[in-house]
This record gives sequence, C-alpha cells and structure tokens, in this order.
Amino acid sequence: MSKFKVFVTRRLPIALDRLDPIADVEVWSERQPPPDDVLLEKIGAIDGLLCLLTDQIDRHLIEAGTSLKVISQMAVGYDNIDIPTATARHLPVGHTPDVLTDATADFAWTLLMAAARRVVEADRFVRAGQWQTWEPDLLLGANIAGATLGIVGLGRIGQAVARRAKGFDMRILYADRQRLDIEQSLGAECVTFDRLLQESDFVTIHAPLTEDTYHLFSQPQFQRMKRSAILINTARGQIVDSEALYQALKERQIAAAALDVTDPEPIAPQSLLLTLDNLMITPHIASASRPTREKMASMAIANLVAGLRGDRLPHCVNPEVYQ
Ligand code: DGY
Repeated sequence: MSKFKVFVTRRLPIALDRLDPIADVEVWSERQPPPDDVLLEKIGAIDGLLCLLTDQIDRHLIEAGTSLKVISQMAVGYDNIDIPTATARHLPVGHTPDVLTDATADFAWTLLMAAARRVVEADRFVRAGQWQTWEPDLLLGANIAGATLGIVGLGRIGQAVARRAKGFDMRILYADRQRLDIEQSLGAECVTFDRLLQESDFVTIHAPLTEDTYHLFSQPQFQRMKRSAILINTARGQIVDSEALYQALKERQIAAAALDVTDPEPIAPQSLLLTLDNLMITPHIASASRPTREKMASMAIANLVAGLRGDRLPHCVNPEVYQ
C-alpha cells in the first residue's frame, strides 16, 4: 500500500519517526512559515497537514486540498483556520488542548508579577548604571497579595490562573459567556465585563479570538479600568486594540501592560508601543516550556495519524464531521 503524504509547516521539537511506517513526510525547515503560494502548491498533493498558528489556513487553501484527510494544528487556538469550510468538507481539524494549560497559566503569572514589580524596568535601570543607592521611592510597584484579579474567560487556562491566585489571597472576579459551576471551588465571582474592568487591579485575558472578542479591549474599556490597573494578555493579540492600548498606557489611563501576544504579530520593531516603559512584551512564548512543546507536538502527531487512518481524532475541534 502506498504511503500517505504529509506536509509539516515547521521543524518540531520531537522526532517524527512515528510517522515513518505510514507516511512520506516533508518538513518546511525554514525559520519563517511557508509562504501562501508554497502552501497552496503543497496542499493539492497531500493527505495530511500539520500546521502552526502562524499558517493562514483559509477557504481557498482548504478547497485546494482535494486529497486532504486531516488538518492537525500544534496549538490549542485555531483562529487561523477556517473551521466552517473544513467542516463543510468533512475535514477533521485537530488541536492540542490541556497539555499547555499549566505552562500558559504559569507564564500569565510570570508576566503579572514582573509587571506589578517592574522587573524588566529594574533590570534596564541596573544595566544602565543608574543604581546608586537604596532609595525609599525607587521603582515602586503594585501589591499582588490581597489585590483583585479579573479573569476574562474562565476556560481551562483561566481556571489554572485562578487556582494560582488563591495562593496570593486574591479576590477573583471573572467574566465569561456563562456562569460556571467551577467558580465555587475557585472562589471566583462571576461579574459583568464592565464590573470586572472597574474593580480589578489586574486584568488577565484567557478568551479565544472570535468575532465577539476582536478588539474587546479598546478605548472605552481602558477608560473604565482603574488608573492603577495592569493588563496581561497571553491569549491573542487581536483581542486588544493596539492603538488604543498605546494611548491608554501613554496617558497613564492604566498603569501598565504585559503582552505575550500582539497585533500584528510579530510586532513591528518601529511600533510606538515599544517606546513605552510601562509595557512588557514577550514573543508568544507562554506555552514554551520544553516538556509542554514536546507534548503539544506529540499530540499534534497523534491527531494527524488518526486522521490519516480515518479514525476519530483524539482532540478534534469540529466533531460535527463525524455525524
Ligand atoms: C496556542 O496553543 O494557541 C498558543 O497560543 C501557543 O501555544
């Protein structure tokens, strides 16, 4: 029997030998994602695609994949993939939930604590030779213990962030599409988005990017937040209006922000956001612990293999394809 053909859009952190018995695998080995025209050329000749969140898998690409049996994405988020088109073509799409929950929650906390206590600014200060003595008002930051944490989206990652907040005796508010039973064990209070903005000292975003969450944070939302508030985003850059964030930070409408995701991504080196001292930015690395990335890759391969064999994907974002 001839082998399946697979295209993997970047080198992965684990070996792909599990695929050897069943597939001929081509790996895009450049640092940048494959350009659209390369993806379009490949897709017509493959049975399986293993992609990343940097690949735009849109309608015309999916429609060109006439022999495609599965799309497997190495990420929990899948806003870069046109799911309705894949579903209409009975094409299962896999993703990698759960395995990155703790790493991402840990990193949201890393950003929260670093922003609250101005760690990056302090490091720059020392390296610039400005540390001359102990000063009573040097680099004053915010308290974390006892503060109010507002979680936007109490899914898997939002819940893991809340569990960590309990150790800091924080008051935990959350806003979601619905009230969740888990709130009791987390000690979290469901509030309106407006109330969360008004009462939180830290606001952390853990919602997916959808039509409803696109630019959920823009000028009116920043105006409602406390002047001392700190915004943390480890979800998707487009949930925050970058221009409005720049104004809010520059005019000190909010105290600071820490972003692991930006819009556009990567952020342009000449972006005005990069001129601000009250903003920290990391390059979309919240899930980037070695064990987590290895588990994500392994899960993506498991989804891919299942799809090639015609089995149900262990983690499928569009299970309607099996009805
Ligand atoms: C995801 O998985 O969606 C993250 O953004 C990257 O780990």
